Amino acid sequence: MRTFEHCYGLTANTHKNMRLHALFIGLAWLAAAPAEAQVTPAYLDETIPVEERIEDVLNRMTTEEKVAIIHAQSKFSSAGVPRLGLPEIWTTDGPHGIRPEVFWDQWDQAGWTNDSCVAFPALTCLAATWNPEMARLYGKSIGEEARYRKKDVILGPGVNIYRTPLNGRNFEYMGEDPYLAARMVVPYIRGVQENGVATCVKHFALNNHEVNRHNTNVVVDDRALYEIYLPAFKAAVQEGGTWAIMGAYNLYKGQHACHNKYLLNDILKKEWGFDGVVISDWGGTHHTMEAIQNGLDLEFGTWTNGLAGGAKKAYDNYHLALPYLRLIREGKVGTDELNDKARRVLRLMFRTTLNPHRPLGSMLSEAHYDAARRIAEEGIVLLQNKGGLLPIDLSRAKKIAVIGENAIKMMTVGGGSSSLKVQHECTPLDGIRRRVADSVEVVFARGYVGDVSGEYNGVTTGQDLRDDRTPDVLRDEAVRTATQADYVIFFGGLNKSAGQDCENADRTGLSLPYGQDSLIAALAKANKNLIVVNVSGNAVAMPWADDVPAIMQAWFLGSEAGNAIAAVLTGDVSPSGKLPFTFPAKLEDVAAHSLNAYTGERKRGIVDIEYKESIFVGYRWADKHTDKEPLFPFGHGLSYTTFDYGKPRVDAKSMFPDGKVTVSVRVKNTGKRTGQETVQLYVSDKKASLPRPVKELKGFQKVTLAPGEEKEVSFIVTREALSFFDDRKHAWVAEPGTFEALIGASATDIRGRVAFTLKTDD
Ligand code: BGC
Repeated sequence: MRTFEHCYGLTANTHKNMRLHALFIGLAWLAAAPAEAQVTPAYLDETIPVEERIEDVLNRMTTEEKVAIIHAQSKFSSAGVPRLGLPEIWTTDGPHGIRPEVFWDQWDQAGWTNDSCVAFPALTCLAATWNPEMARLYGKSIGEEARYRKKDVILGPGVNIYRTPLNGRNFEYMGEDPYLAARMVVPYIRGVQENGVATCVKHFALNNHEVNRHNTNVVVDDRALYEIYLPAFKAAVQEGGTWAIMGAYNLYKGQHACHNKYLLNDILKKEWGFDGVVISDWGGTHHTMEAIQNGLDLEFGTWTNGLAGGAKKAYDNYHLALPYLRLIREGKVGTDELNDKARRVLRLMFRTTLNPHRPLGSMLSEAHYDAARRIAEEGIVLLQNKGGLLPIDLSRAKKIAVIGENAIKMMTVGGGSSSLKVQHECTPLDGIRRRVADSVEVVFARGYVGDVSGEYNGVTTGQDLRDDRTPDVLRDEAVRTATQADYVIFFGGLNKSAGQDCENADRTGLSLPYGQDSLIAALAKANKNLIVVNVSGNAVAMPWADDVPAIMQAWFLGSEAGNAIAAVLTGDVSPSGKLPFTFPAKLEDVAAHSLNAYTGERKRGIVDIEYKESIFVGYRWADKHTDKEPLFPFGHGLSYTTFDYGKPRVDAKSMFPDGKVTVSVRVKNTGKRTGQETVQLYVSDKKASLPRPVKELKGFQKVTLAPGEEKEVSFIVTREALSFFDDRKHAWVAEPGTFEALIGASATDIRGRVAFTLKTDD
């Protein structure tokens, strides 16, 4: 510490000299001040390239500090480096809204009063919009909510492929097709990350069901891995530029996916060049040495035995905490991996918390509700509309009967980690009443009692849905109510309770629960104007489909559910969603079940699940087995208007491997109202050296057309769209020969086809 006396004592001679010396001393004092107080450290200097700043800060950190930033310090946060001013990283679920604050060490909500969010539609609904602009809007909006809530990483989106309709988490994913999921995940990521908030795309990889999720060892061939299960992740990394990836719970090749040499080191980091952070799923880390060596960067949620082992806090027992430090100190492992992990976490900080320019975000804004409603409206799928029953003719209707528990049950609470605490949720009954109440009487009957609970991790809906009446009494009341109405709208489907659309369990069958099938059949007899709205994130069996004129797939739609549903039912909005997965007629028509390649039985020990169907997932399987016609195919969805497709054309009959062919088709709105149509391009390889699907989705475009309007829709086909993964060469290969471009309104409604050839280079 410098004092004036000290300086003065050194210099005073004459009066004049004293003044000169005082000046000199002042300058000397400034020059000798500690460097930290004077010079901005390089890592904070924005004029220096980020990678150099990362190296600078890494060099200043101790080994202990490096270890401290690669594992959790609380349920959802990891430590920064307080000594150097580096902030903590705060993560949040994800992926449909920002989760409420939880206690430091617990899953339970902390009971804050300022952490209610806007719930956006579930990702199945987003995929069903087939509209990348909606994905962008979704990402932007949820990113803004995250940012305002001071979250740095959103745990999502999820892009695990829909392999079986029993998977309890399908509602959090984007369907069965890798191309569709890839096209939709990229704009979601960009929308989020432009807020300076990272996405953490999950669950990498092969997490395709929930039963035995910690002990399933997936056995899958390389073709299916690369062609079906990885493309959406690859797009997330290479095109979306996601800053984080979450490892999955399951195993692959006998190693847990959170520390899996093949998935993380070989594919994600080496083949794809991922420079972000691999975050473990919560409780997905099991092995210290594997965690060190096999690509895990940031460990979260490990279930340790509390404070045992002399640690001060449970988090110190994490694999990438004291156990790692001990191995370093004992010289059993070096620090190369540690530096790589710390470097990645620091990179994440520079992209998020250390970016002084990131926007401020916003929360609960009108714009966010508007976004949630628009996405919901565009994702609702009109599956069937016999006799044009929909939209509801409000000039004729005097009384509408709304029936079913899902008309009144809040769906944002429950389902596992995606459960939310919303500021508002408009239920279907509320939405319909709000929309038509002035002109039409709306009556409600419960019809069935499903699950009346409404609690998740301390968040309660506040709804009292108890009803002790017997199923017969409820049914009689519903049928009576239906008989007296002009329209009957039944709201059923699944909910977010365990064993339905919910994490950590799968469904036990394809059928609707709670006796809904017989109730629907009775309602169909009571009133011919029956509309069934299925609320779910999964396909369900519909044994009554022939007797019900109108069927709508409504997903879990979030805060604006009721308003969006009412808008589509009444025709304010013409439906334009298309299914992101196949609705099979029966469970045995699904490859995984047909081949007995799935088990719903809970088991101990490692359970090998062989993906025997290989690349033939979803419509790829249905196409091969034409005797198994789906109830509703992939890509299917009706509108209130009609579209005519012209004959598809190609601009060249052949292409070279590095060239392209443009496929064009004219589409015309032949109905009486404006509507949107998603034109789908499938490519069919006529002859290949390895088995290929009959066709594969390789392009889609959603167009808006006014009545009578016609537009040309064009797709550019490059070699990539013709390629398959040749496991013999470990490479993507496009074999010369004939291909067909198929233009369709769904996977089974092909409106035209045109052939072209791929030439050899010479
Ligand atoms: C889920 C993740 C989630 C995490 C944190 C896990 O159980 O699998 O998807 O992000 O919990 O809540």
